[in-house]
Amino acid sequence: MSGLRKITRTAFESVDKLFDSAFTPAWNPLYHLGALGWFFYWIVIVSGIYLYLFFDTGINQAYESLEYITNVQWYAGGVMRSLHRYASDALIIVMMLHLLREFVMDRYRGARWFTWFTGVPLIWLVFACGISGYWMVWDVLAQYIAIASTEWLDSLGIFGQSIARNFMNPETLSGRFFTLMVFIHIAVPLVLLLAMWIHIQRQRNAKVNPPVGLAVGTLGMLLVLSFIEPAVSQPPANLAIVPAVIDFDWFYLLGYPLLDSMSGKAVWAIAAGGTLLLLILPVLPPKRREAAAVVDLDNCNGCGRCVEDCPFSAVSLQPRTDGQGFSQEAIVSSNLCTSCGICVGACPTSTPFRRTSDLVPGIDLPEQSIHALREKTVATAEKLTGTTRVIVYGCEHGPDLGRFESEQTGVVRLPCIAALPPSFLDFVITRRHAEGIFLTGCAEGDCHYRLGQQWQEQRMAGERDPYLRSRVPRERLETYWAGLSHHKNLHRKLAAFHERLKALPALERRAPRKGAVRPATGGEDHG
Ligand code: HEM
Ligand code: SF4
Ligand code: SF4
Repeated sequence: MSGLRKITRTAFESVDKLFDSAFTPAWNPLYHLGALGWFFYWIVIVSGIYLYLFFDTGINQAYESLEYITNVQWYAGGVMRSLHRYASDALIIVMMLHLLREFVMDRYRGARWFTWFTGVPLIWLVFACGISGYWMVWDVLAQYIAIASTEWLDSLGIFGQSIARNFMNPETLSGRFFTLMVFIHIAVPLVLLLAMWIHIQRQRNAKVNPPVGLAVGTLGMLLVLSFIEPAVSQPPANLAIVPAVIDFDWFYLLGYPLLDSMSGKAVWAIAAGGTLLLLILPVLPPKRREAAAVVDLDNCNGCGRCVEDCPFSAVSLQPRTDGQGFSQEAIVSSNLCTSCGICVGACPTSTPFRRTSDLVPGIDLPEQSIHALREKTVATAEKLTGTTRVIVYGCEHGPDLGRFESEQTGVVRLPCIAALPPSFLDFVITRRHAEGIFLTGCAEGDCHYRLGQQWQEQRMAGERDPYLRSRVPRERLETYWAGLSHHKNLHRKLAAFHERLKALPALERRAPRKGAVRPATGGEDHG
């Protein structure tokens, strides 16, 4: 299993690289699969509403009304019909890629199980929407789907009367049954919307909209396809004959050939087994969960920065419980916490300048504390020699940094790059622990903890608290989001950074201030 996962991951990374060059990382569709799913859903809804205005729900009129929409109103209704079909197909594609990607990138276990678990019913719902849609056309394909689906349902043996019986001959099919199908095709997408909303409840700032450029480009491609290859009906259904050659839609109907070669019960067993396997995948095997972040009330002033930055909604504020002069305090839901450390990077008390020998911030990771990070930074710096000493801070999900260590380059690992408070950059440079700092981690736009890269870039640009002080010379900082596979580029960037540092004047050492620092209340980092 892990071998297969590695191969798939490498395949994703190669395509990522290709798409990064073609679309730029900001518009790489593979970094926005969930958001594209939402986008295609909305296209399906809008085009579906338009079609419904002209669609006749009567069993004898449905086919005719769609022929009218497609042929007479080809410039509007026809395009809408094609958009409806192609966006539905695209939804299946991005959903499956999204599932596969979250799996191979290991973003579905531990505290992240909920989003995976609630994703599984979406597969059934998306298929139910598409299949019931094909039914509405009432052509030979719809006839085939109707008979195959109802026979499959009958094989469960839980319905008093056979449903497939409705399709035996033209007399047995009632208009009311057909209206029921129309109702299902409208109701299931609404249930899907609710399920999609539940799916993202544990994601703070969930990406439900792709970037504008990607959205426009994708819609443009669907429109071009709609004009070149408009979606059309097949010959009308005729219950008096068995439909023979059918032009298949392999996106939605992939499983149907199974129904021709196996018993309905066997196909139910495969479908149920596959669903169950997907549901329990997060515990096969369970992730070793690192200890959740913990709050230290003596150092927490209730500023709420940790709440703002946590990508998994694991921190909240509650009324103060310890009688200190602040109105609120942070509290962590340990079952939601992924131990990414981003909250620690956001806390104003996570500053290495504090003079306490045991550095305890308002919020910390028990297994990778900010105190240990300061110790590791200083110890790494002490081993460096030469005139262009560089400390590389990298995340655990980025490139293998061991190979870059040298007399002039030291490496410090963090769970996420945003677990590094900007005050550490200030500390390293102004205390002359190194001439330069290099930040790296997951591929650009594909942060393992969703928002880490974005938050760290904003902090460094002075757009987000806690921001990097202006006194830190920016020419001594470099960032390159290398991902797992951009080693060569990373090597080049690092070498170029050393060269750049050589050309800079020697660093001046600032005299350290005396006295311990109290929990800060906001603004810039304290130093
Ligand atoms: C209609 C289909 C689906 C849509 C529209 C959808 C949408 C989304 C969105 C918008 C996100 C948040 C992305 C972000 O902000 O980082 C997300 C995350 C996720 N989805 Fe889906 N999803 C769908 C189906 C699925 C399926 C079938 C699965 C797997 C069974 C799945 C598993 C996940 C996982 C594991 C995450 C990330 C959790 C994390 O980062 O902690 N999704 N999805
Ligand atoms: S002081 Fe730190 S732990 Fe307390 S609310 Fe602010 S960021 Fe969170
Ligand atoms: S470590 Fe902090 S930011 Fe990360 S999930 Fe836990 S509480 Fe949220």
